[in-house]
Amino acid sequence: MSVNYKIAIDGPAAAGKSTVAKRVAKALNYTYIDTGAMYRAVTYAVIKAGLDPQNEEQSITVLPGMSIDLLEDDTVLCNGEDVTAVIRTPLVSGNVSYIAAMKPIRLALVDMQRELANKRSVVMDGRDIGTYVLPNAEVKIFQIASVECRAKRRYDENVLKGIPTSMEDVIEDVKKRDYIDSHRDFAPLRQADDAIPLDTSDMTIEEVVDAILKIVEEKTGVKA
Ligand code: CDP
Repeated sequence: MSVNYKIAIDGPAAAGKSTVAKRVAKALNYTYIDTGAMYRAVTYAVIKAGLDPQNEEQSITVLPGMSIDLLEDDTVLCNGEDVTAVIRTPLVSGNVSYIAAMKPIRLALVDMQRELANKRSVVMDGRDIGTYVLPNAEVKIFQIASVECRAKRRYDENVLKGIPTSMEDVIEDVKKRDYIDSHRDFAPLRQADDAIPLDTSDMTIEEVVDAILKIVEEKTGVKA
């Protein structure tokens, strides 16, 4: 029987986790699971239904029967609708941390995430993967970078994707989400005791990917 390995990459907003996680997954031929996209999809569904994303009683009504599919080509489907682009807009980014602080929503998404990780080897990125979703992950990375550096990365990404934002708005969004994500009661953003911290402020994407692949090899013996 082959082993299913779990690689958890956590860290604050816009630390470059998804870009790196995607490349690490590709190098190892594992499945990449973007848990942030799942919280973003629920946020979009709440807003689309005309509900208040700061109101838990209202927001949780979108859960029954809801489907979220993360496709191989990074397309995100929510109830069959392609939401890949809309979940990255400032409206969704500005509200996602309220939704992510709601316990019933986290429990529903964590169930889906654990089910996905049970079936195959995964690289999963998020906030609580090493501490809560996959506490037995063979490799846990806590990826950090300065606020300025993260905001610059997200700003450049937005420009590339044609999402209109200003640098000030991005800094504000990153700081606000970090605060809410690390202060919520249930499964907050926190470095797991056994996670390896990686400050990527002065590293290129390739350097971060190589560093993680090296850690994977040391911990599991799996070579990319
Ligand atoms: O890509 P970025 O770092 O900007 O964010 P993301 O990974 O897409 O996550 C968006 C938001 O979802 C975060 O700010 C958290 O509020 C929430 N999230 C979470 O609470 N737990 C996770 N495992 C993943 C995301």
